[in-house]
Amino acid sequence: RVADGVLSRNVMGNPWVEQRARPRRNRKSEAVRKMVREVIVTPANFIYPLFIHDETSNVAIASMPGCERHSLASMVAEAKDAYKWGVRSFVVFPKVPDALKTIRGEEAYNPNGIVPRAVSMLKQALPDSIVCTDVALDPYSAAGHDGIVENGKILNDATIEQLCKQSVMQARAGSDVVAPSDMMDGRVGAIRDALDSEGFTEVSILAYTAKYASAYYGPFRDALDSHPGFGDKKTYQQDPANGREAYIEAALDELEGADMLMVKPGLPYLDVIHRLRLASNLPIAAYHVSGEYAMLKAAAERGWLDEKKVCLETLTCFRRAGADIILTYYAKQAAKWICEDGM
Ligand code: PBG
Repeated sequence: RVADGVLSRNVMGNPWVEQRARPRRNRKSEAVRKMVREVIVTPANFIYPLFIHDETSNVAIASMPGCERHSLASMVAEAKDAYKWGVRSFVVFPKVPDALKTIRGEEAYNPNGIVPRAVSMLKQALPDSIVCTDVALDPYSAAGHDGIVENGKILNDATIEQLCKQSVMQARAGSDVVAPSDMMDGRVGAIRDALDSEGFTEVSILAYTAKYASAYYGPFRDALDSHPGFGDKKTYQQDPANGREAYIEAALDELEGADMLMVKPGLPYLDVIHRLRLASNLPIAAYHVSGEYAMLKAAAERGWLDEKKVCLETLTCFRRAGADIILTYYAKQAAKWICEDGM
């Protein structure tokens, strides 16, 4: 030890904190950092949500800059463009005219409805893509709820009957993956049986397993004009305070035949993603929802955050937490950034 009495000196006479482990060695260059990187995010991980409507022109969505409600032709063009950058999977969300909304949401299983037409157009344009469809009544519900409403209550089992019809209709149209987002109890098993008995054993179920009653869905509901007509969705979507409860949903969905489990929203629920990653061997999906997208867009527009860096960091964090699949409105943009950077 030398005169100052605090730090040792090495043979060069430089300050030396005597320690063998120096984790910074594994961060010393980009090549080393890449070599030891635990997870990467690639465009193949993404599912790109696309808003559609039965009109000939697109409509911008004010609370989701950069996203539009697409005509079917424009939806195909957007999917093809994203496909060029490696995005292979899409999920469509329809805005349905009020005139077609009913209490029982029958339009949800109209074989000539907008969703089956969108699915067959996508499969025709991109036969090797994975087309996913949302299963829930909210776009078709006069009450703006995911299920059938009677006397102010959401009917569980009667809703499931509708969801089964909706799933089978979507499978007939060519959907590769049906994604029940309604949170009714027992719907995954019932949908599995309905699909199987119609011969659709190969159609996958991506279950919205832990879907929270979240205020982060606001911009999505703007996009589809699907705000609940009364009350909220707390009798079926999970309480944001509950993490343990996600295990109950995951165990049931797994038992009922789900192929993939989803957590939604994403970033505020990374702990839930991680819990399900440890609790299940099924692939886990994270939904980077509309409100998360809107927050980043707003901060980036003001120059307060670096959009590209924050976006790619966020997507990487989903992978680190345990998500295999990421649903994100950034899918095309992030895929471009990833390709350009050669990550
Ligand atoms: C509807 C559904 C919602 C979202 C996906 N499917 C909204 C809701 O439950 O009210 C939200 C997605 C987003 O906010 O990006 N069943």
